[in-house]
Amino acid sequence: MVGGGSTYTPELIDGFARMRATLPVTELVLIDPDTERLELVGGLARRIFARQGHDGAVTATADLDAGVDGADAVLLQLRVGGQAARLQDETWPLDCGCVGQETTGAGGLAKALRTVPVVLDIAERVRRASPGAWIIDFTNPVGIVTRALLRAGHRAVGLCNVAIGLQRRFAGLLGVAPSEVHLDHVGLNHLTWETGVRLGGPGGTDVLPGLLAGHGGRIAEELRLPQPLLERLGVVPSYYLRYFYAHDEVVAEQRSGPSRAAEVAALEKRLLEMYADPALDEKPELLARRGGAFYSEAAVDLAAALLGGGGSPYQVVNTLNRGTLPFLPDDAVVEVQARVGRDGAQPLPVAGGDPLYTGLVSAVAAYEDLALEAALRGGRERVFRALLAHPLIGQYTYAEKLTDRLIAHNREHLPWA
Ligand code: G6P
Ligand code: MN
Repeated sequence: MVGGGSTYTPELIDGFARMRATLPVTELVLIDPDTERLELVGGLARRIFARQGHDGAVTATADLDAGVDGADAVLLQLRVGGQAARLQDETWPLDCGCVGQETTGAGGLAKALRTVPVVLDIAERVRRASPGAWIIDFTNPVGIVTRALLRAGHRAVGLCNVAIGLQRRFAGLLGVAPSEVHLDHVGLNHLTWETGVRLGGPGGTDVLPGLLAGHGGRIAEELRLPQPLLERLGVVPSYYLRYFYAHDEVVAEQRSGPSRAAEVAALEKRLLEMYADPALDEKPELLARRGGAFYSEAAVDLAAALLGGGGSPYQVVNTLNRGTLPFLPDDAVVEVQARVGRDGAQPLPVAGGDPLYTGLVSAVAAYEDLALEAALRGGRERVFRALLAHPLIGQYTYAEKLTDRLIAHNREHLPWA
């Protein structure tokens, strides 16, 4: 696990421990440049394994090359610049009345620019140390980072917990096992819609209309979107669509409320204090206040399937489009249901293509292409082009201003700036 010192790690460790029959891990290496965090998180990880009777070893190192040596799978969950950089991403876009968010809009571009070069360097070193290892990328922005990895020829799959979260939620509302619920999940990472909810598998009966009729109020409330809007859409957008459908409302909230980065920084401080307690041997309740619910189950399921040891045959992942969404280029990275196995992820066909989402998806995919160009090649003009193409920015005066802000706040992470 690269970024193993993350406060999220106990969530993953808990999943590895509970699901050891699906993925019998013999050694888990936590890799992180922050040795203090490694010690705290590593200690708790070992106690969680011990409590749950898992005999796999948990080791920790700041040495990336040594840490990934001989790995079957490498999980990437790093955050270049930490919560301090995130706080910037969430703040300066507001100067132009644009949403301040870690993955959506101008803040997401800043994160991509900081992150892509670091992840590509890590992936090269993984390839050298462990050719054939699978890279599972949680590192945001997952769509752009995965596209960078795949373009460089790495064995990589991008993962997000939005789909598994909705699958679990719908299963609960329907009173069935999560494994029974198959989502018709379409779009790009953090820009997706559930256009169907099928019972039993990809060909199962679509129960979405009934789900919306019976529980639409609750679902809308959790997405923080009005129920009548959901009814009119007839599909369930991810909560990230709120940044589009209710953009100005979100901006107003962000201007008056605390940033998510500040909330998370405070949570992290408390979590690390808890992790230091030698009596703690399970993931603390407080961790549920982070956004990473079910990441562990998604990760274990994906790793198990990629390594050929089981895992669900169908999973929602980020992978190359290759015609799945015919209105996008083949080398775009889409987030859809795929058949997952030793040979990677093969997207399942997606029916139709409602203009309700195809236009937005096309625009954001084009932005992601420009964002990747800017991340790989640098330069003020490339940053400007990506911002101008983003549907939440669009106007040249804003794109100019935000380009300057982005560069000014990220100079130490951008070698070309
Ligand atoms: C969800 C998203 C992740 C994101 C996280 C943020 O899990 O899918 O991509 O990193 O939320 O959670 P946080 O607690 O850091 O705000
Ligand atoms: Mn995500």
